[in-house]
Amino acid sequence: MADNKAFARETSRAPVSQRRQETGEIKKDAIGGDITVNIDGIAVKVAMGTTILEAARMVNIKIPTLCQHDDLCLAGVCRICVVEVDNERTLQASCSYPIFGPINIRTYSPRIRRARRNIIQLLLRNHYGECYSCARNNNCELQVLAKEYGVTSYKFGHIKAPRYDKDQSSYAVERDMNKCILCRRCVRTCIDLQEVGALEAVHRGAGTKISTYMDMPLNDVVCINCGQCINRCPTGALKAKDPAEGIWKAIEDAKKHVIIQTAPSPRAAIGEEFGLKPGTSVTKKLNTAIKRIGFDKVFDTNFTADLTIMEEGTELLLRLKKAIAGKDKSVRLPQITSCSPGWVKFIEHFYPGRLGHLSTAKSPQQMFGAIAKTWYAERNNIDPADIVSVSLMPCSAKKFECQRPEMNSSGYKDVDYALTTRELAGMIKECGIDLPNLPLSDFDDPLGTGSGAGLVFGATGGVMEAAIRTAYELVTGREAPFENLRVMPVRGVEGIRKAQIIIKDTLEQWKFLEGVTLKVMVAHGTANAKKVMDMLCEGQLDDYHFIEVMACPGGCIGGGGQPIPTGPDIRGARIKAIYAEDESLVLRKSHENPVVKQIYEQYFKEGPCGHLSHKLLHTGYTARGKWINVKKTKRGPGSGS
Ligand code: SF4
Ligand code: SF4
Ligand code: SF4
Ligand code: FES
Repeated sequence: MADNKAFARETSRAPVSQRRQETGEIKKDAIGGDITVNIDGIAVKVAMGTTILEAARMVNIKIPTLCQHDDLCLAGVCRICVVEVDNERTLQASCSYPIFGPINIRTYSPRIRRARRNIIQLLLRNHYGECYSCARNNNCELQVLAKEYGVTSYKFGHIKAPRYDKDQSSYAVERDMNKCILCRRCVRTCIDLQEVGALEAVHRGAGTKISTYMDMPLNDVVCINCGQCINRCPTGALKAKDPAEGIWKAIEDAKKHVIIQTAPSPRAAIGEEFGLKPGTSVTKKLNTAIKRIGFDKVFDTNFTADLTIMEEGTELLLRLKKAIAGKDKSVRLPQITSCSPGWVKFIEHFYPGRLGHLSTAKSPQQMFGAIAKTWYAERNNIDPADIVSVSLMPCSAKKFECQRPEMNSSGYKDVDYALTTRELAGMIKECGIDLPNLPLSDFDDPLGTGSGAGLVFGATGGVMEAAIRTAYELVTGREAPFENLRVMPVRGVEGIRKAQIIIKDTLEQWKFLEGVTLKVMVAHGTANAKKVMDMLCEGQLDDYHFIEVMACPGGCIGGGGQPIPTGPDIRGARIKAIYAEDESLVLRKSHENPVVKQIYEQYFKEGPCGHLSHKLLHTGYTARGKWINVKKTKRGPGSGS
């Protein structure tokens, strides 16, 4: 996937010496362009610079890996991938051995087997944790390797007690460094993919550990709760904070009305937890499973994604009106999306002076929570105090978002529990439910009606696509000029994408937009967001109007709460599933959602961005800055240490 390679190259902040060597431009007929190597007796023709690991994968030869990850630059630290290369005295790490000549390689021999076994046994020597109580049981790369290599005893001994306190300070990510194998995937994820840099390896030799700034609790450093480190950790050293126990209690309490909203990306991914291929959408089977678990109602986050388009789109049009028709120089443009809570915390930490660019619209999760405990409660004569509002999200940062003190505009905590895709899969399995073979069920009324525009929020570029489908039509009275409503210029997986659209023949009330070239941009992964913000700070984006930013690579489908493993191909398959589901729907524009129309007629009578909608559906931000008070060491909620 050429696009994904470009994305990886663009986002890499690793030293040049450690970057993956890109050989795509070498012409096939150039001298040295292709080389034939021999791997376990099989001739393989590869481009110069291809690693032995990549060459082996081309012919389906499996070499074990631990520190290597397709999303990340090379580390070469674990050595589990060693192979024999003719004329090399020592075993070579295949992930970091570029091929520059015709060589003979063996990926399996008694010497290699002994070396790999020793590496696993050395890792297990310092590993403290019990598989049966571990979040990664049955999905742990260390456990799998120990089994595959027949490691059934502790040849080099085994520690008897944990060496480190667990860090449970964060609302989103728990760290247990007793299970860490020092592969540094989390460090590279946090620095390279996300440009946050909350984690680093400290000390040397046997004292090496992965730590935060001044060894402070994760909740007290610049962590944005994105959970991308969890998705790439091979073991249970990192996990999301699981709220399932609280939800089970609410379900068992007959007085409680337990509702769940499900976001689109988990529906395109949860099947992977049940052995289905990536990209298998199970939306309506999931509804059945959720009902069988005991939830009272299952609703669709796409409903409030549609509402987000109405509120955020109106906010943009109002800003444009002030700036263009009113020539008001104080208006902050471009407006930037605010529905990704990892991104919101990133800008609060790293660009606090630019918070005025963020839309004030809450995320769809939080809009849903506010409406559930007001409009929905009133219509159904339910005491909001008895409503337990759960969200199924692809994202660990949503756990932090729903705890923000400002997210209680309904008079109650708007969303009580944010549950990740992995965690809901755990609850379904606990009930012995066979998700892939369930019958289909619809969403419940009235908050179960969502459009395809709300659905494509799940993929990078989706919010922009939904906004264009609606804004263009509202301003011109005509459907956006894209075949089958596919807004191709904003689709794709390049880290940063730009597009523009000329607005012509507007309706009378939008005359100030006549002839305006609307310039938009899309970024995913906060490393790309940082590039966008640096351009913005340098004044390079003064002529842009709207920017979509998602904290996670690929957008929500690559969120930190999604099934593990992740990688470019898996994310690509999930994105395809989202677009395919969009095209299967009749309702594909947010402003055509009949329940959205109804809520503006009956409840938010002043329309989008009116007083009541402002109170319930909009929010404010906190300028945090990145300088942390090092004296502040108090542990946060749920601290167990
Ligand atoms: S990290 Fe892996 S090996 Fe360790 S306890 Fe968890 S499942 Fe077992
Ligand atoms: S959750 Fe995100 S920001 Fe926090 S440590 Fe992990 S990768 Fe870094
Ligand atoms: S926490 Fe996980 S990803 Fe990070 S170094 Fe340890 S094992 Fe590797
Ligand atoms: S996978 Fe090659 S050194 Fe770790």
